[in-house]
Amino acid sequence: MCGIFGYIGNDNAICRVISGLEKLEYRGYDSAGLAYVKQGEIKTIKSIGKVENLKISSCAISSKISIAHTRWATHGSATEKNCHPHTSENFAIVHNGIIENFEDLKRKLNYEFYSETDTEVVAKLLEEKYRECRKKFKVEDAVLHTIKETQDCLKGSWAIALICKLDPKKIYVFKNKSPIVVGIGKNESCVSSDINAIESDEFNFYNLEDGNIAVVKQDDVKFYDKNLNPAKLERIRQVQNKYFEDENFSHKMIKEINEIPFSIHQTAKIFDSDEFITLSKRFKKFKEITIIGCGTAYHAGLYGKYILEKYVGKKVDVVLASEYRYKTKIKSENELVIAISQSGETADTLAGVILAKESGATTVAITNVSSSSITRECNFTLLTNAGPERAVAATKSYVCQIYVLYLLACKIINKTPQRDLDRITEKFLKAFNGRFFEKYYSKQKFFFIGRLCDSSTAFEGALKLKEIAYVHSEGYPAGELKHGTLSLVDEKSLVVAILTQNIIKEKTLNAVHEVLARGADVILITQFHDIDFSGDIITLPNVCQEIAPLVSVIPLQLFSYHYAIAKGLNPDMPRHLAKSVTVE
Ligand code: F6R
Repeated sequence: MCGIFGYIGNDNAICRVISGLEKLEYRGYDSAGLAYVKQGEIKTIKSIGKVENLKISSCAISSKISIAHTRWATHGSATEKNCHPHTSENFAIVHNGIIENFEDLKRKLNYEFYSETDTEVVAKLLEEKYRECRKKFKVEDAVLHTIKETQDCLKGSWAIALICKLDPKKIYVFKNKSPIVVGIGKNESCVSSDINAIESDEFNFYNLEDGNIAVVKQDDVKFYDKNLNPAKLERIRQVQNKYFEDENFSHKMIKEINEIPFSIHQTAKIFDSDEFITLSKRFKKFKEITIIGCGTAYHAGLYGKYILEKYVGKKVDVVLASEYRYKTKIKSENELVIAISQSGETADTLAGVILAKESGATTVAITNVSSSSITRECNFTLLTNAGPERAVAATKSYVCQIYVLYLLACKIINKTPQRDLDRITEKFLKAFNGRFFEKYYSKQKFFFIGRLCDSSTAFEGALKLKEIAYVHSEGYPAGELKHGTLSLVDEKSLVVAILTQNIIKEKTLNAVHEVLARGADVILITQFHDIDFSGDIITLPNVCQEIAPLVSVIPLQLFSYHYAIAKGLNPDMPRHLAKSVTVE
């Protein structure tokens, strides 16, 4: 949801911000822009589409300071006018988040607006406040007071970096609910939406807290709280998690699917970690367990319900984080809320965690980013260790979320988990022909069905196909079809049935026969060899059935990838989406 990058230092800032934006492009990719100061004037360059376009139009420029932005449109479509940075007479700003009261503010401001964005309103509001502040203070103090007064008027979420034409050797940063990190190196400093976009191991990194303001110079940074008292921020201890490109793969998504075995191997190490042991020991005391998450992470939560109820024998609720945050919160004693989030930044999940904490729950993050906002909020963090994931579709991270939940359930009941899943998935990935589904691409309707934990895999298969291949598809619990949806099934349909659980074998097969009788084609994904079915079968490796969803989702991920490629789409950057959803 928009990436911010800023640089000040001895290097050419334009090259550095472009390189930063390239690493942040997973957060939004409909337009990109940058601002710099030249001969006392703020200049901007903006372009529609990918960062590559901005690179072409700005490659001849050089500057020591620049702020830049890659956009995922919220207010106003992806036009050059709406593209960040937004400016006023003295300021250029880049923003990640949503200003909820921007219309109110806009009405009160006596300015002409060139864009439809909420961000331009902030640029103009800063200008308005600055007019008064500069009469009372010297430049830096004037800007600080301007930011303070502006922040006091804003509602919503923001991480904002700004440059001021009268103070061209500093980048000012302030935030509320959207992430931003400051990195200070030798004679150079960066600000970024994601620590991993800053290319240096020699930087000291600081995560801004809500209300903080940072004044970033080439060799120094000063932090203030929202009342402009000096603030002391802890250095982040996390080592950076670099993303390695691999020329053997044409897209990040297929590269990341192929990283599943290694990610599983890395994630397995959590089993003996102190945090894991402490949490599993305390687990029995919790009376209520709620799992929250969005999209794919929510589907992992559905699996979590299955495995924790089955192994641990506790009732577990799974709630979409976007619903959870507005539900009537019933105070309960000894509640555990598990928040699943690859990025650790999803706004709804973060809000859910904050609500859970306020109501006295113990909170656990299952996340892939150790320095994320959700990690910082939660009492416990179970790190998935999938390695950075950049393709918009969650693939290896989903598998690792499932794996962590499985390992947790095993740990709580002192069960030895299946350990060779890395080797098994590696063999399966080598053997499985990703083009298996090709002959069904001409179908018009796609259904994914399964029962128990296979239904969460079905939901995930349908979501992948929608988001990557733009194909309308439905995930359905197999037993529910006949209560309505079966009327949609005909010879134009492909039904993918997932069957990994012994106790519902016959039941899922009943549903298969029902759809066959309505003319649909069926693909069965199963590890059982004794099934009487004459259609296409994808035979899964033999794994313990409680962790079978970790394997059965892989063919579905490959289905969506290959279908997208066949349609000429870019699976890494599906339209209208972004990797990290930091707005509501
Ligand atoms: C789908 C996908 C999304 C995310 C969702 C939550 O492939 O990636 O549905 O799962 O936006 O994101 P995180 O896990 O970062 O909270």
